[in-house]
Amino acid sequence: MARVVSGIRPTGKLHLGNYFGAVKNFLNMQEEHECFFFIADIHSLTTHPTPADLHNNVHQVLAEHLAMGVDPEKCALFVQSDVPAISELYTYMNMNAYIGELERSTSFKDKIRSQKNNINAGLLTYPVLMAVDILVHHADMVPVGKDQQQHLEMTRTFANRFNHMYATDYFAEPQAFSGGGDLVKVPGLTAQGKMSKSSGDADTITFDEEEKGLRKKIMRAVTDNGPTGPGQPKSEGLQNLFDIMTLVSDTSTVAHFEVEQQNGTIRYGDFKKQLADDVVKFVSPIKERIGYYKQNTSALAKAAKIGQEKANDSAQKTLKEVREIIGFKKFY
Ligand code: TYM
Repeated sequence: MARVVSGIRPTGKLHLGNYFGAVKNFLNMQEEHECFFFIADIHSLTTHPTPADLHNNVHQVLAEHLAMGVDPEKCALFVQSDVPAISELYTYMNMNAYIGELERSTSFKDKIRSQKNNINAGLLTYPVLMAVDILVHHADMVPVGKDQQQHLEMTRTFANRFNHMYATDYFAEPQAFSGGGDLVKVPGLTAQGKMSKSSGDADTITFDEEEKGLRKKIMRAVTDNGPTGPGQPKSEGLQNLFDIMTLVSDTSTVAHFEVEQQNGTIRYGDFKKQLADDVVKFVSPIKERIGYYKQNTSALAKAAKIGQEKANDSAQKTLKEVREIIGFKKFY
């Protein structure tokens, strides 16, 4: 049985990218492995949420995990800030992370561009905290989307450096995982790259939104001016919609529109309508369950409580061992 760790920042509602990049794998992995899935509320502080927004977002994301089928009896589903050992280990691991390598991380460079007025130290050391999330439970596998690949490489670097520094083999090397295949990158609706909350509401398909609005944004998704003849390559926007269709529709539906695209007879209106129908069919049952769990605060509380107990047991053991390795010895 392998150890599995993964986390999602509570920055709003979960979208298709979160589901296909991460949560879908959680569901398979919780059946056969020892899993720790958490809501990364400490990470989300880098964007300075108000206390009310932070709390509401954790509530939302917790309900969404349960609605999607994450089972608190089978895995540890917990809130990151409920596990203080993470913050302590973060302090220690920060001493072995170098400013140069942190400044070179892609996510830091992106943030410097996107939040110019809030380039805080937490953004710089974000990969250290993420490494700690993973190493504190000795994860072998980390189910994540493609955008987290570099963070996993940095995690291995920090683990190996710790081992080297203290002449130990204490931390093993965790690997990013996506069901045995390539890591997933779900594109957004506005042809700006991966589906992401930060690229705006029009870019994302979330699970907990009104059907009317959802259909509208799919019908407005970025494509191009239409086919100009047979055998034309797809524009980026059109390819993105085909990629999303591959995730939510039957293979025969995708094949039908592929042929029409190749023949130059595709009508984007029909294509988008089919995509909207299939997205709605996919998200509706989950949306209904989100509604149920958002109201059912006792189920949320119970899940978070069992989760923090399991996670604290595991994290405290690691912290104790790390303190010994580092040389913190008691004088009393
Ligand atoms: P976050 O909150 O941005 O995203 C959560 C998970 O969703 C995946 N994801 C995507 N996958 C495919 N296509 C997309 N468009 C897409 N958008 C998001 C992400 O890859 C991720 O798996 N730093 C992490 C949270 C974190 C974490 C950890 C993850 C903190 N500590 C430890 C794993 C292990 C983050 O910001 O993910």
